[in-house]
Amino acid sequence: MKAMSAVCQPYTLREFNLKILLILLILSKKIIEADEAVVLPAVILHDVGWKMIPEDQQVKAFGPKMQDADLRRVHEVESVRIAREILTAVGYDSRRREEILTIIDGHDSRETALSLDDKLMKDSDKLWRFTAIGIGIDHQRFEIELGEYMMWLGKQIDKWMFTPEAVELARASFAKAQMELLE
Ligand SMILES: [Fe+2]
Repeated sequence: MKAMSAVCQPYTLREFNLKILLILLILSKKIIEADEAVVLPAVILHDVGWKMIPEDQQVKAFGPKMQDADLRRVHEVESVRIAREILTAVGYDSRRREEILTIIDGHDSRETALSLDDKLMKDSDKLWRFTAIGIGIDHQRFEIELGEYMMWLGKQIDKWMFTPEAVELARASFAKAQMELLE
């Protein structure tokens, strides 16, 4: 993992990804059957492709007001390309590498999960959005009033989450964020 973070350096390991990684660590303690050596690199690398899209264009490609599904697809394809280069450069196990790349390839556009590892990557990616920090950033960048955004977000828990553990964490995190942000 150390070798991988060195090779990742030019791609800006986003602050968001580090937060998602922390949430994933909490989640993976609950779900021990998952393959950490697949899920963790998938979480770290899944969004490296944003690097190829100008920052002022990125908000068009996700969120409740998404306007450009093609751009969302570009960030997935670019993430796969860059992740392949990184995993190959560090000599990552080829079977796991291919599983990681398959997960990254549909991490936003594919609404179904292919495996438990895939479910965990998707759940950890979404869980960050239920934290007070995630909500504060998202409602501003999506230009939606805080109360209205939280109403919408609260309805997404059952739609988005795959594992019961993530549903539980999302509900707890959302309730805490409501107390912090709305009261
Ligand atoms: Fe993404």
